[in-house]
Amino acid sequence: MSTIKLAPSILSADFARLGQQVTEAAQGGADRIHVDVMDGHFVPNLTMGPAVVQSLRRVTDLPLEIHLMISDPNLFLDEFAAAGSDSFLVHWEGNNNLHRTVQRIKRLGKRATVAINPATPVAVLEEIVCDLDQVLVMTVNPGFGHQQFIGTTVPKIGRARELIERRQPMCEVEVDGGIDAETAPLVVRAGATVLVAGSAIFGDHDGVTVAMSRLRTAIGNAKYEPEPAGRPALQRS
Ligand code: DX5
Ligand code: ZN
Repeated sequence: MSTIKLAPSILSADFARLGQQVTEAAQGGADRIHVDVMDGHFVPNLTMGPAVVQSLRRVTDLPLEIHLMISDPNLFLDEFAAAGSDSFLVHWEGNNNLHRTVQRIKRLGKRATVAINPATPVAVLEEIVCDLDQVLVMTVNPGFGHQQFIGTTVPKIGRARELIERRQPMCEVEVDGGIDAETAPLVVRAGATVLVAGSAIFGDHDGVTVAMSRLRTAIGNAKYEPEPAGRPALQRS
């Protein structure tokens, strides 16, 4: 069986029955729940705060990973931690003190991920990756669900995987945005180990459980296919 993890993003859930939808995702084999937090500044959209995490904590034992798309994540780490978050995903973009932010996450006893946007090269992670539990390669520009997958991020996933194998082998490689039955096997072959999916799971007319098994079937036995030696991913177009 595939060891690829699925992280349903509740951004595309029906908020009027959020608890039920998260329970269905858990029954469908979700490995964690992805919570997208947006402040209207860092990205042009507004979503949810710690109160939602607190409510989710009461309905699921699954790890809650909090994707902070906000201008100053430092301001809210304590509140989200107290609400029951298990891990924080903070962006490289716009953070002048990223090392300090990551250390604060660690001191709170939470898992730390650094996310990079589609236009940001993997190389910026070189000096921070040893402190991380996970890197997140955004496969759309952050801000909205149901956007089109950006194909040029596929070789970048490979570069992220090469970096973690070289510097921090226990680190996971997560992808977020436009993941569906078509793109899931591509990102897995490129080196992703954790797949976030919002609309492909909560927007499926056949329901959450069917959608999750569809994604699992699409992944099938796909696995990481490193670039052959002599053709390093850094030189791929
Ligand atoms: C986008 C968010 C994603 C979003 C993905 O900024 O970070 O987590 O929910 O949604 P889909 O899977 O619909 O692209
Ligand atoms: Zn996200």
